[in-house]
Amino acid sequence: MSHVLAAVAWPYANGPRHIGHVSGFGVPSDVFSRYMRMAGHDVLMISGTDEHGTPIQVQADHEGVTPRELADRYNRVIVQDLHGLGLSYDLFTRTTTGNHYQVVQELFEGLYRNGYIVARTTLGAISPSTGRTLPDRYIEGTCPICGYDAARGDQCDNCGNQLDPVQLIDPRSKINGETPKFVETEHFFLDLPAFAQALAGWLDSRDGWRPNVLRFSRNLLDDLQPRAITRDLEWGVPIPLDGWRDRADKRIYVWFDAVIGYLSASIEWARRSGDPQAWRRWWTADSEGKDARGYYFMGKDNIVFHSVIWPSLLLGYSGAGDRDGEPGQLGRLNLPTEVVSSEFLTMEGRKFSSSRQVVIYVRDFLARYDADALRYFIAVAGPESQDTDFTWAEFRRRNNDELVNDWGNLVNRSISMAAKNFGAIPPVGPAGLTPADEALLATSRAAFATVGGLIERHRQKQAIGEAMRVVAEANRYLSDQAPWKLKGDADKPRMGTILHVALQVVSDANTLLTPFLPHSAQRIHELLGGTGVHAPMPEIVEVDDLDGGPAYPILTGDYTGGARWVSTPIVAGRVLSAPKPVFRKLDESIVDEELSRIGG
Ligand code: MF3
Ligand code: ZN
Repeated sequence: MSHVLAAVAWPYANGPRHIGHVSGFGVPSDVFSRYMRMAGHDVLMISGTDEHGTPIQVQADHEGVTPRELADRYNRVIVQDLHGLGLSYDLFTRTTTGNHYQVVQELFEGLYRNGYIVARTTLGAISPSTGRTLPDRYIEGTCPICGYDAARGDQCDNCGNQLDPVQLIDPRSKINGETPKFVETEHFFLDLPAFAQALAGWLDSRDGWRPNVLRFSRNLLDDLQPRAITRDLEWGVPIPLDGWRDRADKRIYVWFDAVIGYLSASIEWARRSGDPQAWRRWWTADSEGKDARGYYFMGKDNIVFHSVIWPSLLLGYSGAGDRDGEPGQLGRLNLPTEVVSSEFLTMEGRKFSSSRQVVIYVRDFLARYDADALRYFIAVAGPESQDTDFTWAEFRRRNNDELVNDWGNLVNRSISMAAKNFGAIPPVGPAGLTPADEALLATSRAAFATVGGLIERHRQKQAIGEAMRVVAEANRYLSDQAPWKLKGDADKPRMGTILHVALQVVSDANTLLTPFLPHSAQRIHELLGGTGVHAPMPEIVEVDDLDGGPAYPILTGDYTGGARWVSTPIVAGRVLSAPKPVFRKLDESIVDEELSRIGG
């Protein structure tokens, strides 16, 4: 058993999340965490809203509110979205907490003390017409690396490289098109080259990563440059050094603060749990004799921050880069075990775009469809290792043909038949089990190792495919055995045996599908006469800031009680009643309705 940290990318609090966002970081991390808990690991799943920096400032300006107001609004919306999807965070918090500020400043100071953060004079962009600094994201130009003509000042969305605005060819302001003027300004830089060796050693020792992710990460090491980690901006974490702390115009770069959220959220969780040191179990090697592993979930545009920047911060703070140094008061911190990155989801062949209305927001989706229908689609057809298109026709087809017809029908017909003929789970008859019965039971028992192993290796598509194969086998078994024909008194014990076997396999398949479909798994557990919590759910709790700041909503939950990852024998005699369908068939008309909502 291990301590497993599920570190989930922090969504920007600059708007509601759409299904492209949650298919990359949200659902896969929840499937993984739920499975790991069922398999007996100590899981800590953490994240929060990313609330600083230009992305928030830009949208706040656009909506005519302060960044704080904007972040408050969308933090709440996002918490509700993630709750609606049943994502089982131990703590989903935000980056504007007192705790987060302290931890970010502690890391900054530790890195600075060890010599990994250095001050430099650089060129900053200002708008010639207003004289105000022009944030990186407001600048657009041609990427010096790949030639893409709409690269942003901070990053090129085409090749994924981080940029400095001054590197852009033909830079222009996104606000009014004017050419920015570059003037000298002082900033702090992270000495990335000092981590090149340590990063290479770490990446070379990685096993089982998705090949694209490892290759991309390895390539990033070929050209490491010192990287600015402060910005000319008023919204963000203050720089914790004398002479800088009180300056209103300089803040820590949003990505520097956001990745530290993984650590600060773990600490916040521990402080709220009553054992403020409990976070160390996930962050220091071999804690309490158990190993500690950390898995980071995100979309591919975030890889560099998780496979270069974040490990560098951890190394530097721990005193483990080329300049050595001493660990700070938090101690030596573990590097990620694995960076689990997904590819992109498009919709009806186009990039998601809020401004062009090529989008479906999570809350709108959940207002019209069930969370498990979306979770199912993401699991079987999501962008796990290649870019993938969401279409309404395919969503409906998968829902109707697979979720409703294959799985829903199996549940429905086996429980109804048992309820109608026996009123309870029938026992295995006196004649015992036939080879066909044994074979089906063996298939579903064996699936626990297969499906579990695949989820553990982040092959969720294959994993759910194997679980659905058990469902298909069970459907074939029922057709072959045709228990509905065995109505006479003499045949009834055999009918009971068949239904007993079928219900056992329904119960097993339900457990195998629980990480993917937790809402329906709870209902099916109850339809089988089970009581108590089978698939624990997160809850939204209003909490006070631990350090005196304003109150805010968190997602948290007690996930200790749910089902275990084993075949659990069903209990003959348990009363059953005729079930209501668990899944909803979707009418053909939804496809056109949804398409008409998308901007042309
Ligand atoms: N807010 C970023 C985005 O949406 C993700 C931040 S992940 C973390 O792309 F590293 F900062 F945590
Ligand atoms: Zn580029």
